[in-house]
Amino acid sequence: MAEQVKKPIKITETVLRDAHQSLIATRMTTEQMLPIIDKMDKVGYHAVECWGGATFDASLRFLKEDPWDRLRKLRAGFKNTKLQMLFRGQNILGYRHYADDVVEYFVQKSIANGIDIIRIFDALNDLRNLECAVKAANKEKGHAQIAISYTLGDAYTTEYYVNMAKRIEEMGADSICIKDMAGLLVPYYATELITALKGAVNIPINVHTHYTSGVAGMTYLKCVEAGCDIIDTAMSPFAMGTSQPATEVIVETFKGTPFDSGLNQDQLAEIADYFRPIQENALKTGLLNPKVMGVNIKTLLYQVPGGMLSNLVSQLKEQHAEDKYYEVLKEVPRVRKDFGEPPLVTPSSQIVGTQAVLNVLSGERYKMITKESKAILSGEYGQTVKPFNPEVQKKAIGDKKPITCRPADLLKPELKEIEKEMAQWKQQDEDVLSYALFPQVATEFFKYRQAQQQKVDVTAADTQNGAYPV
Ligand code: CO
Repeated sequence: MAEQVKKPIKITETVLRDAHQSLIATRMTTEQMLPIIDKMDKVGYHAVECWGGATFDASLRFLKEDPWDRLRKLRAGFKNTKLQMLFRGQNILGYRHYADDVVEYFVQKSIANGIDIIRIFDALNDLRNLECAVKAANKEKGHAQIAISYTLGDAYTTEYYVNMAKRIEEMGADSICIKDMAGLLVPYYATELITALKGAVNIPINVHTHYTSGVAGMTYLKCVEAGCDIIDTAMSPFAMGTSQPATEVIVETFKGTPFDSGLNQDQLAEIADYFRPIQENALKTGLLNPKVMGVNIKTLLYQVPGGMLSNLVSQLKEQHAEDKYYEVLKEVPRVRKDFGEPPLVTPSSQIVGTQAVLNVLSGERYKMITKESKAILSGEYGQTVKPFNPEVQKKAIGDKKPITCRPADLLKPELKEIEKEMAQWKQQDEDVLSYALFPQVATEFFKYRQAQQQKVDVTAADTQNGAYPV
């Protein structure tokens, strides 16, 4: 048999971003990351995903850490490895649409502080919402990867994904990611999808999936055999469950084959040894719920991402209506259909989920309609793959004319105004962006930071005065 051409699979490690976002509510601290990054830098990963997504919000809100400072520290430690972030198109890392000047400035500062690859996606797969971020990344000489949110539904055919991929290549993206946030991509369909995509575009294809439904490892096997270039995995202590397949397992799977990643198991074992106590401690404190470590086949039945299922449960608990869980689960696809069948990912997953809960609990569909549902139905988030249900749209926005242009075209530049508003807190340019995304949370953080600095000043002064023994 003729020797097959070698095509090593490239591995992107997610333990510093998606893995802990998916398993421990994004609570890994910079202090927990730093001691191991020197070893991680020597592995030969294609990239380490370490920033963006929920890490920004969680750093400021819960960890009282400056996310920009984390990025700079990671950059200083990762001397040979590309750093990757996740970016929600015109939503940046927040939950509304921002004006183009904020998007451009955020991209510029992300790259200036150390990001190499920006993975950009839109919850509705409306490519117009990615234009600004992609152009900015190109301008700053960053690698712009556009991610297609993967989902199931009548409209989401292989042809749909191939068309999207061609348009993405034309837009100037450097690579394409199939972003399967709910673990819905199954192995044999992956063969068909990746083969079709490889036949349609020349830029590299990256597959990102979650282990939630249990098929992810097999899906990666089929993706790699079909020619996919990059896959995302997580070090074993923070792998599987709602996270990614384990890095070590995937590396072993392709060892000695034409797809051999070349990564060394001894080096990986040392890194796993470092993360294991952090995982065990998270289990002890309850931060890591053993439930999210297992396989949840309901995700395939209801096509709802794992994170959304747990959100629904907590919303129902608050309302003392846990018995309505299955009714709500059945309502989710109906609301999704009324809303033009969008993929369910931040922020569309929250909007559809909350509306489904309201529809069930109020006893009448669309008796109450949230502000966000109205915004989706008036086109403020962009265009959905299918039309909205006209009756539901009418109920939500009346005779108001829906938006059909790129939503950000209607937004005036806002950076200057924001800078003025937060001037008293500004210690670095990047603070303006933290405030732009999360005004209240950032202000709380700035107050905390100032208090800490004053404390340090007082201690230093006292020491100089000889108040403390040296
Ligand atoms: Co993910």
